[in-house]
Amino acid sequence: MKDDIERVLIDEEVIEKRLDAIAAKVERDFPEGTLLVIILLKGALVFAADLLRRVSRQLEIECLNVASYHGGTDSSGRVDFLDRGFPEVKGRHILLLDDILDTGRTLHAVKARLAEAGAAAVHTAVLLAKDKIRDEEVSVDYVGFRIGDEFVVGYGLDYQGRYRNLPYVGVLKESVVGK
Ligand code: XMP
Repeated sequence: MKDDIERVLIDEEVIEKRLDAIAAKVERDFPEGTLLVIILLKGALVFAADLLRRVSRQLEIECLNVASYHGGTDSSGRVDFLDRGFPEVKGRHILLLDDILDTGRTLHAVKARLAEAGAAAVHTAVLLAKDKIRDEEVSVDYVGFRIGDEFVVGYGLDYQGRYRNLPYVGVLKESVVGK
């Protein structure tokens, strides 16, 4: 798996330090009371597991399964909600976690859905934000790292379902993407 990586963009140690800072900010920013965290599957799983263990507040956790890439390296332009149900969010303060902000469509669609369902407030956190013009402008409260507009894997992010368990964020060799 590691042989398929062209270069490491953000290593594990750097990610861990950044998560400490984001967790401290989350603790300061949210009002007292139980916070509802919504994790967007599957990409935000690793980010969420490492971030949430650093937040010493009462949390409830829900997951939402959404898809926009459908396995490749470009957004399909469509955001599909793959779950049958939707969490009960009325009146709740929510922290929404995603792996990466790219075109902005996913977070835009999910935030709209949460607002429609009566959430009291929605804060968003992403591990990565691509530096580019977005199709949907969406405000994000916590950004781990800003990166260039290139396809990355690892630390939860996949290519065709693989590489999510790499402990760092990296770029795949062209020969692997071309296969
Ligand atoms: P949008 O375009 O809706 O994208 O902001 C958000 C979702 O697209 C996926 N995505 C990526 N996945 N490497 C990945 O493995 C990438 O470089 C990448 N860029 C976008 C991801 O699922 C994210 O939640």
